[in-house]
Amino acid sequence: MKVIIASNEADIARMVADDIQSVFAAKPDGVLGLATGSSPLAVYDELGTRVASGALSLAQAKAFQLDEYVGLPQGHEQTYRYVINDIFASKVDIDPANVHVPNGAAADPAQAAIDYEQAIMQAGGVDYQILGIGSDGHIAFNEPGGSLSSRTHVGGLTAQSRQDNARFFDGDISRVPTHCITQGLETIMAARQIGMVILGAGKAQAARELVEGAVSARWPATILQFHPNASVYLDEEAASQLELIDFYREVGVQGN
Ligand code: GLP
Repeated sequence: MKVIIASNEADIARMVADDIQSVFAAKPDGVLGLATGSSPLAVYDELGTRVASGALSLAQAKAFQLDEYVGLPQGHEQTYRYVINDIFASKVDIDPANVHVPNGAAADPAQAAIDYEQAIMQAGGVDYQILGIGSDGHIAFNEPGGSLSSRTHVGGLTAQSRQDNARFFDGDISRVPTHCITQGLETIMAARQIGMVILGAGKAQAARELVEGAVSARWPATILQFHPNASVYLDEEAASQLELIDFYREVGVQGN
């Protein structure tokens, strides 16, 4: 795992966008993996800037969002379908028909999860996956205690995750859905390249467990230690609890 500590979010966004630009320059019809949350917002803005300048095109690309709430009505402003259109698809030249999100309003969410997993495989798998991390160590919505080899499934949200996301529901945790459809950890691990963005002191413990902790279901993101091509981009606050911080600064983007 490459551990890259940057002084600000804009530098991180440029580095992640550089990687994405390389992937899609070599493979214009590749597959981009998307995450919601605040962590990737600057990356999406940077991608938008590069598309506008002609440095990048996603016109032939496909994209797959990591997860979706179960039970929100279609068109609800907090569905990840709505959010990802707002923060990503509306800013780049991707065909909206090629932006895929699990169907959280399906009559049979378990079947919708199976269908979604198959759709990713049929598209040839994810070439570059953008990731954030929850303060409890989740990626997508793979919460602590789940299988480290799961595929796309219906899962429950911890109280911590619902509390973290209550800010999008007027601070009212009772309005945050209790379940989701999420890509599994093995689904995410199948992505050919991964870039994770970790910002702020609230993520410092999760960052430390991810980079230096034991691989465990308690901190699901730790499975990424097994990924052959994953980079973790942290700001100073998120990196503040790393024991070997001086070493990561020394090896820098060359990684380890
Ligand atoms: C949600 C999403 C995750 C995201 C996490 C962190 O739980 N399901 O994909 O990584 O939030 O969000 P943020 O980046 O806003 O801290």
